[in-house]
Amino acid sequence: MAEVIGFFSTKGGVGKTTMTANVGATLKHEFDFKVLLVDTHILGADLASHFGLLNPPVSITDMLRGTLPAEKTIYKDPRTGIDIIPGPFHADQGTSALKTFKQKINQLRDDYDFILVDTPPWLGKETAGIIKGVDYAIIVGTPAISGMMEAKRTLDLLNKKKTKTSGMILNFYRGLDYELHPDEVESFLKRLPLLGVVPEDEKIRRALGYGVPAVVSSPTSQGVESIIELASIIADVDYIPRSRGILSKLKGLFGFR
Ligand SMILES: Nc1ncnc2c1ncn2[C@@H]1O[C@H](COP(=O)(O)OP(=O)(O)OP(=O)(O)O)[C@@H](O)[C@H]1O
Ligand SMILES: [Mg+2]
Repeated sequence: MAEVIGFFSTKGGVGKTTMTANVGATLKHEFDFKVLLVDTHILGADLASHFGLLNPPVSITDMLRGTLPAEKTIYKDPRTGIDIIPGPFHADQGTSALKTFKQKINQLRDDYDFILVDTPPWLGKETAGIIKGVDYAIIVGTPAISGMMEAKRTLDLLNKKKTKTSGMILNFYRGLDYELHPDEVESFLKRLPLLGVVPEDEKIRRALGYGVPAVVSSPTSQGVESIIELASIIADVDYIPRSRGILSKLKGLFGFR
């Protein structure tokens, strides 16, 4: 029976989609879980593009509106073997259809260990259906002050909706003096656990150009190592880093904890 986990931030471009794609690919490839990825950003979908699928033949709107049974909206990526419910190519303004998200996604729970949900960069009336449908949320943030303010706003909004938030991913970390330190991030968010620190990594960006997630195409990069550690924490499985893990390397380099 799958856990349904949403990746949230009210800020755009922080890496929600990238984390959904790469954590999902890791849970399947590294840890052999059954994984479904779902794109709920129906106004600007791009999750499937991380797998090279630009114009999906089926999409989540078919599932939400009931024009196809939920299982018929799943695209099986031939290269990674990952199951994806893509968002529509053209923006779908009918966001009220998201009300059916919970009921529809629940129909697929028995077939997976994890259902990872990519979400739009806002939390309002339209996204209430997505929030209701997830078991818990993970916030994606960046080490800039503005990134942290937005992460705090996201956390407050999720708390208001009584959504359980398990922690935060600090993405695009470079360890620069004007960035917030991971310890500062944790205390700013009132001890919301930091599940992982993912460095800015060219190989992650490049992977999107090739349509294969970095965890599959560049398995030895620092960004990927950090995502594997992160996925092991999310799935609560033991993982011995291939090299010394990125989190411990970053701890060593920047002297936190
Ligand atoms: N750790 C990273 N290192 C390098 N590039 C990254 C990293 N994380 C994400 N990116 C790149 O940043 C860009 C934005 O990421 P992404 O689309 O995942 O953000 P998002 O939060 O989903 O944005 P939106 O809110 O618009 O949907 C993408 O080009 C992605 O490849
Ligand atoms: Mg996105």
